[in-house]
Amino acid sequence: MGRDPPAPTPERILPDVPVAKIPASIGIIMDGNGRWARRLGWERIKGHTAGIDSVREAAQECARLGVKELTLYAFSVENWKRPRPEVEYLMTLLRRFAEDERPEIDANAIRFTTIGRVSELPEATLSALRETERLSAANRGMVLRLALNYGGRAELADAARALAADAAAGRIDPSKIDEAALAARLYDPAMRDVDLMIRTAGEMRVSNFLLWQISYAEIHVTPVLWPEFRKPHLHAAIRDFAKRERRFGGLVGA
Ligand code: IPE
Ligand code: IPE
Ligand code: MG
Repeated sequence: MGRDPPAPTPERILPDVPVAKIPASIGIIMDGNGRWARRLGWERIKGHTAGIDSVREAAQECARLGVKELTLYAFSVENWKRPRPEVEYLMTLLRRFAEDERPEIDANAIRFTTIGRVSELPEATLSALRETERLSAANRGMVLRLALNYGGRAELADAARALAADAAAGRIDPSKIDEAALAARLYDPAMRDVDLMIRTAGEMRVSNFLLWQISYAEIHVTPVLWPEFRKPHLHAAIRDFAKRERRFGGLVGA
């Protein structure tokens, strides 16, 4: 059961980027939906609808390029501050996305999953997400992970609470708590560190996205608004990444 990703072929890669330089894990802060719609004289929510096409294209192309994990910031713990109609629209859109994209997810052998305080999402949204997760669980291609009701600080606080509970119950010795023990209690303990973090719409900030997992991520900020983000923009980000010299605190060639 489950589907395998397509076998690697020369046309799978970007001709000018060595396969080894394709980031294994990409995270995207999808920003600028509202600005895109307003620029066209439309309501902000039209930008969220249009953003779905960008999500589909980014996921397909990342899967094709052999990216292992794509994590998309779709709704932050802070986004509840927005006007209620916009929040409700986003929740409906998420449900529709989870339902409508199932064939596409399967055709690309993608395993769909979520991180965040997802149990606090409306029931209809949550059950659609869970079902898509279940249906794609056996797929062996790229992981497509939506960060929903997600905050990097909330994730660390939740992990700290789980550690404290385990310590109080005698399951872990407090003096033995290390990075691995904390990482094992994040929303998705199997998640890789992010290699390339992309932010659209030009803002030079992290906005509480994946604080733990971006420690050594290379950052690419593009002025392109999310609804306009297409394959060539993704390729530009990957080319930019491929040129970076990653040192992880050490010295290259030493
Ligand atoms: C990103 O677009 C989508 C979400 C945060 C849900 P925005 O809605 O933040 O768009 P701008 O930043 O206002 O243009
Ligand atoms: C970050 O975008 C959250 C998501 C993309 C889901 P925001 O638009 O909420 O971030 P700020 O308010 O500009 O920092
Ligand atoms: Mg924004």
